[in-house]
Amino acid sequence: MAVGIFDSGLGGLTVLGAIEKRLPQVPLVYFGDNAHAPYGVRTADDIYDLTTQATERLFDAGCDLVILACNTASAAALRRMQEGWVPKGKRVLGVFVPLIEALTERHWGDNSPPREVGVKHVALFATPATVRSRAFQRELAFRAIGVDVEAQACGGVVDAIEEGDLILAEALVRSHVDALKRKMPEPDAAILGCTHYPLMEEIFQDALGDNVRVFSQASLVAESLADYLDRRPEMVGPGTESLFLTTGNPRNVSNRATQFLRRKIEFIPA
Ligand code: DGL
Repeated sequence: MAVGIFDSGLGGLTVLGAIEKRLPQVPLVYFGDNAHAPYGVRTADDIYDLTTQATERLFDAGCDLVILACNTASAAALRRMQEGWVPKGKRVLGVFVPLIEALTERHWGDNSPPREVGVKHVALFATPATVRSRAFQRELAFRAIGVDVEAQACGGVVDAIEEGDLILAEALVRSHVDALKRKMPEPDAAILGCTHYPLMEEIFQDALGDNVRVFSQASLVAESLADYLDRRPEMVGPGTESLFLTTGNPRNVSNRATQFLRRKIEFIPA
């Protein structure tokens, strides 16, 4: 019984933490591709190749269901994987849809035509590759009309978090929020469209102001996974052990992960 969680690095731990709280009985195998992070500056082909390799490793570790807890991989590789790569009996899901469903006030499986929703001016903060893919705008257009989206590619933030330089990460977040506000002075909602960003959520909220509702993915994805496993309990694979795998330096990655999740985490080589 194990579910795989994949990210380019440490960001997916925000999703893992929320899933552990919501589904404490489900063993989770985490794969952080720290040696190749950040993905946000890579080409779509490169992201596809790295994401399929990591997903394969998670299948080998006894996971039938893998969550891409990485918006960049979800935006650049997921559709291609689902269309021609995922083997029979396995499933790969992304992190975009639960977030967009929350923003557009929909429940899972509501495929009714797009309609007006409460939010009108949405700020999207994501990596350069996610912004370039326009995947967020596409998913939103299927569900909502009349929503103005301004995207800000937040160069440097993932690198700073991966390096453990949270002072630099904070300075970069504040300057990206300023840049966004020059384009959209009064957003009513903000999407943290990268799983690393919840680690900086308080800074985003502070820089945006109290009037802006900040949507972040971790708990939305956990809730949606719980719902999915209720409907498809057989998708919890045969693995029985929780594991943390990394392509990076296990000691450094374990130290940062322990700092972020505030409990001892031991990564082993992938
Ligand atoms: N956590 C990944 C995401 O959600 C970061 C991508 C990167 O490595 O640049 O997009």
